[in-house]
Amino acid sequence: EQARQIQQTLAEFRLSKAQLLEVKKRMRVEIERGLKRESHKEATVKMLPTFVRSTPDGTENGDFLALDLGGTNFRVLLVKIRSGKKRSVEMHNKIYAIPIEVMQGTGEELFDHIVHCISDFLDYMGMKSARLPLGFTFSFPCHQTSLDAGILVTWTKGFKATDCEGEDVVELLREAIKRKEEFELDVVAIVNDTVGTMMTCAYEEPTCEVGLIAGTGSNACYMEEAKNIEIVDGNEGRMCVNMEWGAFGDNGCLDDIRTKYDQAVDENSLNEGKQRYEKMCSGMYLGEIVRQILIDLTKRGFLFRGQISETLKTRGIFETKFLSQIESDRLALLQVRAILQQLGLDSTCDDSIIVKEVCGTVSRRAAQICGAGMAAVVDKIRENRGLDHLDITVGVDGTLYKLHPQWSNVHLFNNFNPSSVIQLPVCHLLLPPSFSRIFQQTVKELAPKCDVNFLLSEDGSGKGAALITAVGCRQRELEA
Ligand code: BG6
Ligand code: GLC
Repeated sequence: EQARQIQQTLAEFRLSKAQLLEVKKRMRVEIERGLKRESHKEATVKMLPTFVRSTPDGTENGDFLALDLGGTNFRVLLVKIRSGKKRSVEMHNKIYAIPIEVMQGTGEELFDHIVHCISDFLDYMGMKSARLPLGFTFSFPCHQTSLDAGILVTWTKGFKATDCEGEDVVELLREAIKRKEEFELDVVAIVNDTVGTMMTCAYEEPTCEVGLIAGTGSNACYMEEAKNIEIVDGNEGRMCVNMEWGAFGDNGCLDDIRTKYDQAVDENSLNEGKQRYEKMCSGMYLGEIVRQILIDLTKRGFLFRGQISETLKTRGIFETKFLSQIESDRLALLQVRAILQQLGLDSTCDDSIIVKEVCGTVSRRAAQICGAGMAAVVDKIRENRGLDHLDITVGVDGTLYKLHPQWSNVHLFNNFNPSSVIQLPVCHLLLPPSFSRIFQQTVKELAPKCDVNFLLSEDGSGKGAALITAVGCRQRELEA
């Protein structure tokens, strides 16, 4: 009976193909709403123009600074791009911490901190006097009216600094640089991480015209026909659109598949009611969904002897890496129990079986609905081009996509007793279904007329931001 009730709880997370097709269909409706002049203001999926009109062609050249803000790590990078026959990209970067007080303090503090990190980096590289052109990867929704202007629509994920929403983030950065009075920079472009990732991948693979982030947050961009982007003048060629698909569902259109656990996660978040799709499928929230289910199952007496520990009440304890580890476990659940132990949860063997199933079910749904979104995108591109069949490459980045259970990575993250983990050879047949595999399978099933190749970005989105900056600089010279 207990087993039946647990299965009943998890059944809500198990979506049928018909339901996934419905998600795909609704995503398509929201895409159209975001693109149309008369409906874009109310649209939840904002389809923001980026003013990036082409992917790289190898003629980009120069030395650029790039910032990468909004994922797990904040990075400052120096990117040296050389064009021509021996085209090459050389990168130097440093990771800086952004303390939570700064993420959620005042805007001035946040931008002063960013400039402080840039200053440190320029000292480190010995380049303080160079007045370099800069590309700013800023992984939040921005209304752009040009390559170098972006008004922050709303913070998402873990950020909530005051006095930034509604402001031009490029100006905020320029002002902070002025306040510092230590160096000058030429801010040329503001770039969403999806766009940076697409460009990074497109430099190696010209068929890459879509970018996907499955990380802390979830989002995608793609090359849309200019004539379809009604709020931008001009009908020639294409422009990259930052979809901001994380907000899909904010008008209630996913309510029939959202569970009470999804609602609880939303209510506990910094931005209640917003980013509902993202809260079902990105790294920042998957562990929280799991925690909500575990709390409920414990309350009902099915887990942890009915005892809700302080740990289980703690927001954010189930980081994505723990989910990965739990799902990777094939060692008679020893690893699951070790992780639960580490989190202060005393588990029986039965508990660990249930916890593992909960994790697997939640991440499977995440990969599937994310795949349904991507299926809508590639089919839209195929129809745009009037094709029966589309071959396309999607550039991908993000910790969820990269780390979700991969046995070889589990060791890297073992901070519990590593000697308890026997080193087994990597054997793909034994690997549990990973986020990336389920995601890819779903795209294939829901968009059968598209052959989609997924390319992992090895270089993050900073390289793409530098490439965009290079084009921006050249454009400016032509106009001058
Ligand atoms: C990085 C990109 O590699 O991936 C960032 O350079 C991006 O721009 C990030 O935001 C997304 O992944 P995560 O998991 O760190 O949010
Ligand atoms: C959030 C942001 C979006 C970003 C995504 C991935 O959804 O709003 O801009 O691309 O996270 O980092």
